[in-house]
Amino acid sequence: MTDASNAAPLDNIYRTIQSDLDAVEISLKDLGGSSNPLIAEINRYLFEKSGKRIRPALLMLSAKLCGYEGRDHVFWSTLVEIIHTASLIHDDIVDNSTLRRGQDTVHSRWGANITVLLGDFLYIQSIAMALKTKSYDLINILADVTAQMIEGELIEYSMSGNPDLTEDLYLEIIDKKTAQLFADSCQIGGRLAGASPADVGRLKDFGLHLGLAFQIVDDLLDYTGDATTLGKPVLSDFREGRITLPLIHSFRQTAGKAREDLICGYRDRAVDPNAAAKIMSAVAKTASLDYAFDRASSYVAKAKEILAAFPATEHRESLDRIADLVLRRKK
Ligand code: FPP
Ligand code: MG
Repeated sequence: MTDASNAAPLDNIYRTIQSDLDAVEISLKDLGGSSNPLIAEINRYLFEKSGKRIRPALLMLSAKLCGYEGRDHVFWSTLVEIIHTASLIHDDIVDNSTLRRGQDTVHSRWGANITVLLGDFLYIQSIAMALKTKSYDLINILADVTAQMIEGELIEYSMSGNPDLTEDLYLEIIDKKTAQLFADSCQIGGRLAGASPADVGRLKDFGLHLGLAFQIVDDLLDYTGDATTLGKPVLSDFREGRITLPLIHSFRQTAGKAREDLICGYRDRAVDPNAAAKIMSAVAKTASLDYAFDRASSYVAKAKEILAAFPATEHRESLDRIADLVLRRKK
């Protein structure tokens, strides 16, 4: 089941795959039955509250769009969600985040040492489960995408606090840390269905564009969102020094002395109590939130255009509606 505040739009879109998503939920909750009591306890904490399950949904709908009638999509969707969860608990350590989905992050509760190990355990467990299938092409995709996610996260961290971050490099970061897993979730769905290379390529491209839009909106919500709805504090990217599209655009649109002041203001964010307000006003002055939203909208438009090459089925309709929801989402 999805959380209540997401339930109305998502439950409706997920209608045709709800029983399969429920099966994923059961497999995830089974991880809470680990024989190690600490692993069991943390897994129960992690999987008791469900997220949007967007990656499993993309995998399932992509498979069904290509005529898949088997059951393996539940297993591969579970793996994709485990990898995503492992990445988030690592990301929360890197980002010093204390809240996710409205609850304490794992490292705030159990400490970073245990959490890193638990994240590693979850990840390697998903690969060990995948290896049992001997589907080496799919396992390869999972290993490659994880390497890309780590690389994206590394580039992002190394560029923290650096106002020279360009839009191109930002796009490379979000491509690697977020969009590739969207692309590969769709790709795995297509491959499970035995789709043609052209259709698998289209699905991957659809997921890629959707993933780019998803992360741009995620970064926008850090400026515009409501902390209670989001289940995490706003302006946390800014406080941690992560420079995302609105700020990149604002820096780029500001010249001379105003740019120097803006960069100084940004650098003083830890000591100046008015830093957040100043940055918000700079971002408003340069219409940078609108710019970022327009960029996300273009990626969604492209994703929908790619999807339109598939036959008009209820599964295509669901994917199309997920694309719309990525732009409208509040959490
Ligand atoms: C969230 O970004 C983070 C990601 C999309 C990817 C993180 C990837 C890693 C930490 C690599 C390690 C992966 C594994 C499986 C070992 P964000 O901080 O912008 O989003 P947030 O606001 O939700 O935290
Ligand atoms: Mg984060």
